[in-house]
Amino acid sequence: MKHPIFFLFFVLVTTAVINAIPHTLILRQQPTEFSSCAIFGLDVPDISVTISPDSIVAGQNVTFHIIGTTKFSIPAATVGIFIYNDTYDKEYQASFCDYYISCPLGENNAFGINVTITPEVVPESYNMDVWIYNDTANFSCATTYTDPELSNGRLSIQ
Ligand SMILES: *[C@@H]1O[C@H](CO)[C@@H](O)[C@H](O)[C@H]1NC(C)=O
Ligand SMILES: *[C@@H]1O[C@H](CO)[C@@H](O)[C@H](O)[C@H]1NC(C)=O
Ligand SMILES: *[C@@H]1O[C@H](CO)[C@@H](O)[C@H](O)[C@H]1NC(C)=O
Ligand SMILES: *[C@@H]1O[C@H](CO)[C@@H](O)[C@H](O)[C@H]1NC(C)=O
Ligand SMILES: *[C@@H]1O[C@H](CO)[C@@H](O)[C@H](O)[C@H]1NC(C)=O
Repeated sequence: MKHPIFFLFFVLVTTAVINAIPHTLILRQQPTEFSSCAIFGLDVPDISVTISPDSIVAGQNVTFHIIGTTKFSIPAATVGIFIYNDTYDKEYQASFCDYYISCPLGENNAFGINVTITPEVVPESYNMDVWIYNDTANFSCATTYTDPELSNGRLSIQ
């Protein structure tokens, strides 16, 4: 299984470099699908994430619709949206509590927030992670990362 996927990756990247095909036609599937951060070997509660419009374009707004249920009470926390590849890693931040009249948000509460960012740079191919975290805790996560073969260098897969 490993070799065909690895080979396909290089074919796709090579094709991209030669033809400069927009990234949306290569690795980035649409609809963009986020899944569990369990792939990183982390036990962090999942969130559902969709984006609109479903294309990430440098200099254009994109809204992340983030839905979840708190497993733990969430105090003041950062919503971090990471766009990254092997060599590039950019975090866009929002404050979780800005979306609520009262914070912390207690455990077992459903939440839904819309975070709009304007990416400055969009690599040819990339992954995205959405984290809700503070200095000492990770409260929720979702990622577009699906294949440990496509190592990103930011989070090492054991
Ligand atoms: C992009 O988002 C920013 C921040 O939410 C907002 O101020 C701006 O009006 C938006 N621009 C467009 C073209 O929607
Ligand atoms: C987030 O955006 C979706 C789609 O536009 C909308 O249905 C929903 O009400 C918004 N949620 C909040 C909390 O603003
Ligand atoms: C990662 O993205 C940066 C910024 O777009 C780009 O300069 C770099 O070549 C990309 N690296 C890879 C391995 O694609
Ligand atoms: C981060 O969250 C944890 C768990 O809720 C809490 O104990 C801690 O005080 C928070 N840290 C800060 C700096 O808010
Ligand atoms: C949160 O997850 C990140 C990414 O895996 C990790 O580096 C960090 O140590 C985690 N923080 C805590 C408090 O577990």
